Amino acid sequence: MNNSVIGFAFTGSFCTLRRAVDSMKRLVELGYSVVPIMSRTTYETDTRFGRAEDFIKEIEGKCRRKIWYEITEVEPIGPKKLLDLLVIAPCTGNTLAKMAYGVTDTSVAMAAKSQLRNARPVLIAPSTNDGLSASAKNIGMLMNNKNIFFVPYEQDDPENKCTSLVCLFDLIPKAVEAALEGKQLQPVIR
Ligand SMILES: Cc1cc2nc3c(=O)[nH]c(=O)nc-3n(C[C@H](O)[C@H](O)[C@H](O)COP(=O)(O)O)c2cc1C
Repeated sequence: MNNSVIGFAFTGSFCTLRRAVDSMKRLVELGYSVVPIMSRTTYETDTRFGRAEDFIKEIEGKCRRKIWYEITEVEPIGPKKLLDLLVIAPCTGNTLAKMAYGVTDTSVAMAAKSQLRNARPVLIAPSTNDGLSASAKNIGMLMNNKNIFFVPYEQDDPENKCTSLVCLFDLIPKAVEAALEGKQLQPVIR
């Protein structure tokens, strides 16, 4: 049995939500206690990739607890030292930018701030079409931060989406293990 408590935060990369939910389920099956978190955008938006209500039901059923999506719900992560690790998967360009510049006006950005306040690890699983353009500097800034780790990522479609980056969701369990030991899973760029 694994004793670590992991916050698993979903942001609005809707095309990768399915893969992220499956990765979260894998962590539950590995014995981690998983606390589900969502950005309000993710919590409230239906897209062609699925209905918010269906994702919410599936996630809450697997974790056997309600999803936190309000800033007030995640704020205690810091003062009460609730999490051993916070995973943000998928992590949008929007959330990367907020984290890089210290903006905390969403539940997920606030969860990260609360976790980092205790010098505890945050693991980012990026998925954004501007990973090698507007978001590149933000990824670079975050990679240079103590206690921030990345799920290894790659260009998902260099021919048609030449600046797009996406993490390798299957590597989340290995990246979690490494981050819990304060290590970056390598190689980070695949
Ligand atoms: C169908 C759809 C797919 C999207 N996919 C992505 C994506 O893969 N990566 C990304 O960074 N933003 C994507 N977005 C945009 C984000 O949802 C948007 O920037 C939002 O403000 C993110 O908020 P959050 O980071 O708080 O979840 C997508 C939006 C829509 C409607």
